[in-house]
Amino acid sequence: MDFEQVGKIIDKYQEKRTGLISILHDIQDRYHFLPEEALRKVASRLKMDLNDIYGVATFYKSFSLIPKGKHSITLCLGTACHVRGGPKILREMKKQLNIEPGQTTADKQFSLNVVNCLGVCAIGPVMFVDGKFYGEMNPLKARRIIEKINKNKRKNGVKS
Ligand code: FES
Repeated sequence: MDFEQVGKIIDKYQEKRTGLISILHDIQDRYHFLPEEALRKVASRLKMDLNDIYGVATFYKSFSLIPKGKHSITLCLGTACHVRGGPKILREMKKQLNIEPGQTTADKQFSLNVVNCLGVCAIGPVMFVDGKFYGEMNPLKARRIIEKINKNKRKNGVKS
């Protein structure tokens, strides 16, 4: 893994401790998780204790210490989404991706997670994919989102 970008990210925030959260977000955006080597580099450059950095990294749910897929799929199974068919969508996603919630596909393309509410219950069932909400979902719509991502990947010549 090339960690040259980590130094550039730290430079962007002028090695300031107040920029730690932003630095971690940028590292996660770049690598899709927070690699240990990157965190060591952050600790060294910000002159912080590595344990404190791990403390921040594990406090926020948006950070991950294990590799995540390039595409993040979060399905809501809160009450409003559950009664409108959330579990059927989950079954379809598990079938399409061949993984359980909390897992990442072997090709590191997709991560699947479930949550109890995404705060947009009125448009449930809801999926949050790569930073975008998809409302009034059903299994077919969910499958089409995966197919569209895979199609774009092939179009852009990205190997899976
Ligand atoms: S219960 Fe699904 S968005 Fe609130």
